[in-house]
Amino acid sequence: EKGTYPHYMLKEIDEQPFVTRRIIQKYQDEHGGLTIDQAIINEVLNADRLYIVACGTSYHAGLVGKQLIESWAKIPVEVHIASEFSYNMPLLSEKPLFLFISQSGETADSRAVLVQTNKLGHKAITITNVPGSTLSREADYTLLLHAGPEIAVASTKAYTAQIAVLAILAATAAKAKGLELDFDLTKELAIVANVMEMLCDAKEEMENIARDYLTLTRNCFFIGRAVDYYVCLEGALKLKEISYIQAEGFAGGELKHGTIALIEDGTPVIALATQEHVNLSIRGNVKEVVARGANPCVISMRGLEGDGDRFVIPAVHPDLTSLVSVVPLQLIAYYAALHRGCDVDKPRNLAKSVTVE
Ligand code: F6R
Repeated sequence: EKGTYPHYMLKEIDEQPFVTRRIIQKYQDEHGGLTIDQAIINEVLNADRLYIVACGTSYHAGLVGKQLIESWAKIPVEVHIASEFSYNMPLLSEKPLFLFISQSGETADSRAVLVQTNKLGHKAITITNVPGSTLSREADYTLLLHAGPEIAVASTKAYTAQIAVLAILAATAAKAKGLELDFDLTKELAIVANVMEMLCDAKEEMENIARDYLTLTRNCFFIGRAVDYYVCLEGALKLKEISYIQAEGFAGGELKHGTIALIEDGTPVIALATQEHVNLSIRGNVKEVVARGANPCVISMRGLEGDGDRFVIPAVHPDLTSLVSVVPLQLIAYYAALHRGCDVDKPRNLAKSVTVE
């Protein structure tokens, strides 16, 4: 039920702090730490490479998950779009382990890959919001998102839930390998939940950004580097699917290799700046597009902010910024769609779960 909310999407965006806290509870061990089933961790430790397979928003969460698993647990990870993997299977490592990420657990493209990998005799884990779904039943193991039903076609709370569960998986695998993290994930995720709440309270600012930058435009670019690039892909997908504005996410450094030709007077460019090691370079990219007439909207992290930034996100652990930086982008997409008179919860041409290949 959407209660007093005008749209499911807005309700589901607002549920993210609550979902993050529920995930902390559901994955808590007896010592207050976070943990994943030992059988699953054994499979992860046994593998020489993880293959994440997913579509759309779940694929974008997989990109963030790759970074967490590689940097914390030091296990190589590849991320693949399911529909490509099916017809263009990469050369697999000797001991692959498959990780299917699917909110609905019913996506036909992802299932087609699971059917193939099951045939090849490889083990698979499904990360899904729906217990008993096809992908959950057909994989060896399931990790649940505990996000509650997601009704709006545009996925929001499932994305952050997927990243939170992948973070817990990465941290548990790291610990099992004797690679202790130098921070307390439970505490850092609790901070994330609090910051999400503050961002959900910043609706007016996000509505103003949507109005100032996106009311009349035909297109919009999102730029970022490192994990911010992955979040930009997701921000662009949210905007295009519900507002029908042509939106693209780009790695900041890649713009000059072609796409910068599209920047005209007034083209909106939304830039994320949450990562210290690329802060100077992404700000350099903003200057490059501004020199070509772009209308920049920089969203940065507290501690890294610069003059003229449009919005500053309260600080969270640098490896967990995707969980919070996506919230302003979800809200901006929501308000852009609303102002343009689009059907937010049921965008044209899209279905909530895509059960055809
Ligand atoms: C975007 C969106 C889609 C889904 C994709 C995968 O907002 O909802 O891109 O993420 O169709 O769906 P699941 O995760 O159910 O496999």
